[in-house]
Amino acid sequence: MKKPVTVAITGTAGNIGYAIAFRIASGGLFGPEQPVNLHLIEIEPALGALEGVVMELHDCAFPTLNNVVATADLDTGFADADYVFLIGSRPRSKGMERQDLLLANGSIFKPQGAAIDRSASKDVRVLVVGNPANTNALITLHNAPNLEPTQVSSMMRLDHNRAINKLSRQLEAKPNVIKNITVWGNHSTTQFPDIQHCTVDGKAAASLVDQDWYRSEYIYKIQHRGAQIIEARGASSAASAASAAIDHMRNWALGTDSSSWVSMGVMTDGSYYNVGKDLIFSFPVHCKDHSFEIVADLSLDDYSMKMIHASEKELIKERDMVLDLLR
Ligand code: NAD
Ligand code: LMR
Repeated sequence: MKKPVTVAITGTAGNIGYAIAFRIASGGLFGPEQPVNLHLIEIEPALGALEGVVMELHDCAFPTLNNVVATADLDTGFADADYVFLIGSRPRSKGMERQDLLLANGSIFKPQGAAIDRSASKDVRVLVVGNPANTNALITLHNAPNLEPTQVSSMMRLDHNRAINKLSRQLEAKPNVIKNITVWGNHSTTQFPDIQHCTVDGKAAASLVDQDWYRSEYIYKIQHRGAQIIEARGASSAASAASAAIDHMRNWALGTDSSSWVSMGVMTDGSYYNVGKDLIFSFPVHCKDHSFEIVADLSLDDYSMKMIHASEKELIKERDMVLDLLR
């Protein structure tokens, strides 16, 4: 067995936290040969429920689970963490937009960014899941001045997986033959699920689907999938979100398959696709050994650029709402 890695997860008594902790503990993130320490972080009132999660984790007798810490103290929770999942925050309910959570949730990420900066491993990788995920990731990064901008990202993988699933069902193709789909922008209804460079079993996806279906149904349904799930379940997606978070972190740490890129919300520096700097924006990326590279210079038509800039505009508006939380 290798030396254990430490994974910190906030909100672990909540729905996504409950779904993700057991998968990570059982080797679902780094495989059966990699032991993990789990640092589970909750707010004080949820520590009782968290204790129950810890008991269940121990009762699974997973050989890959080395040690579990349960705490409401951020510095204890993030101590020496190699990987951090920032999940703990309020989910939206029916009728709300994710942006409506900004005022309720944004302030959670300022002290968490500062505590990660102080206490986590200097090579930590941080994935923000709590909504609105892109702007919460921006707050986290601004409050962690010793981290490189490439050490924090936001989750767009659920949208990416939804985009693959919908195309796969439409074309009756297996998800793993669908390559190079991109979801650009914000994890919101302005996101742009883009199949222009996507292939299905080696054929151009755009040539296999009706353009009206693509523009009027496909894009809309992916943009609104979160709300559709809230409507059906009476609660926001949890197991699929946990699964996407594991996909995201696994690719970031261990690399992507060279035949396909994935979508990740990452810090902008103004040099890609005319998107302005200082936003957490989703781009197509290839990952290798804990780093990622944005896929540059894809040809994009006017429609795609218009969609990308609508999402950029929304992210600028979100950033303007939280200026007091940015250092
Ligand atoms: P939940 O209400 O079931 O659980 C949230 C947990 O977070 C609770 O146990 C709560 O006590 C805890 N929490 C609240 N504030 C905290 C803090 N400051 N520190 C630590 N823990 C804290 O919610 P959920 O369904 O698990 O969703 C969590 C978040 O993930 C929501 O914001 C939701 O909108 C978001 N989400 C994002 C995506 C995505 O694709 N980015 C997908 C699904 C859900
Ligand atoms: C999702 O996309 O399912 C989550 O972001 C939850 C939500 O509020 O839609």
